[in-house]
Amino acid sequence: MPSEELVLPSHQDTHDHSKRVAEFTNVITKKILDSELYVDEVEYWTKQIELTDSSKLAGMISFAAKGHDKGKDDPGISGLVDLGRHLAEAEKETVATHSELGVKAMNNNLRREKDAQLLNLATVIAKYHHEKWDGTGRLGMCGTEIPLPARIVAIADVYDALTSKRPYKESIDEESVIQMIRSVSGSHLDPLLVEAVFGVQS
Ligand SMILES: [Fe+2]
Ligand SMILES: [Fe+2]
Repeated sequence: MPSEELVLPSHQDTHDHSKRVAEFTNVITKKILDSELYVDEVEYWTKQIELTDSSKLAGMISFAAKGHDKGKDDPGISGLVDLGRHLAEAEKETVATHSELGVKAMNNNLRREKDAQLLNLATVIAKYHHEKWDGTGRLGMCGTEIPLPARIVAIADVYDALTSKRPYKESIDEESVIQMIRSVSGSHLDPLLVEAVFGVQS
């Protein structure tokens, strides 16, 4: 596997966030493999990244997830992230371009390693992690059109964004975070994945 520094953003807050997202992605992917959900997609990605068996998928998706916000290293975006306040709509739109910028960064960095499988996976995650299950995301993809690794990282990403303290917001307790995640299950997030990770709402 190439050095994680090739995928991790250098911007400090984004770097720390990406490491936490990668850790949770690992946990989520293992749960999905255990629950035998989306077996066709699991098989597809196992073949796509040339793994001998699907049990190695969690480690690969987790590694690639470290690069999901690589595009935020762009100075125009990291400057906005560093403002430490709620952003205006136009500023949010600029930050949203980190998906496209991340694809470019991933291509530049990982191509040097000649690791085509990991390049493909990291690029897919960077490009699609802000797509929404109901099709209201940036590129308008919906449901299982959104690649499984990106749907998994989306859950870890939302979870970390909610649990992390920011200069402009306090962290939220675990129980409230799970309620908030359940409230966007089926709109933003894949409902079957949410159910597999957090259980059925009582
Ligand atoms: Fe992102
Ligand atoms: Fe993120």
